[in-house]
Amino acid sequence: MDEKILKSLVLPRHIGFIMDGNGRWATARGLERSEGHKAGAETFRTISTYCAKLGIESVTFYAFSTENWKRPKKEVGTLMKLFRAFLEEAQEREGENEALGFRIKFAGDMTGLPKDLIRLFRTCEARSANKTGTTVNIAVNYGGRAEITAAVRKIAEKVRKGEMGVDDITEDTVSAGLYTAGQPDPDLIIRPGGESRLSNFLIWQAAYSEFYFTDILWPDFTPEDLDKAIIDFCSRNRRFGAVK
Ligand code: FPP
Repeated sequence: MDEKILKSLVLPRHIGFIMDGNGRWATARGLERSEGHKAGAETFRTISTYCAKLGIESVTFYAFSTENWKRPKKEVGTLMKLFRAFLEEAQEREGENEALGFRIKFAGDMTGLPKDLIRLFRTCEARSANKTGTTVNIAVNYGGRAEITAAVRKIAEKVRKGEMGVDDITEDTVSAGLYTAGQPDPDLIIRPGGESRLSNFLIWQAAYSEFYFTDILWPDFTPEDLDKAIIDFCSRNRRFGAVK
């Protein structure tokens, strides 16, 4: 983005990305769907790096939903392989990532994932925990309803143990039990791929998010497309329920 334009904008603090359209991108090229996910993983790298350069505080990428287990075994296997490759590469490229200041976090129900992958996730999180640049949340085995349910369970457990009263339950205590605790809610959620729905992504956090839908398929999504989405976002009048 042009420096002058960039300086004149109040950027979103947190952007969510629903990485949709990988399968169609591959099919249109006569390739297997898995190839679309590989291309989508490249776009993830390009866009997360670009967000770090723009100075975005947090980004969340929807990489694998709790419903995605219903996909063919081979496709699920490819996605797990891509996560492993990303983690291994993150270790190799530590210097580069350090320069960008990425803090990497995984959002989702880790109990349903292969043990070695969970270990790699935790190592990657621990290694980047002190970074102060963009927080990159990768939602894996993630579902918004499951996330809220887990937060409510944690609260109920505290109430049962007498550590908390029912009257102490507030929106903040629910937010504090979510994977994104401590981060701002997403200001902007971008969904490429032509569909206009949230698909169980950050449903609590998205209460006042602005949405940007585009027909571009995720593997074709570029930093210039992100510029367009950000400029569109900046033109909106966010009232948060008030009159302005
Ligand atoms: C939805 O497109 C996309 C997914 C279910 C997977 C997204 C995951 C990646 C791009 C890999 C990310 C990798 C890392 C390391 C974070 P779709 O397959 O439903 O597309 P379709 O609607 O065209 O079929």
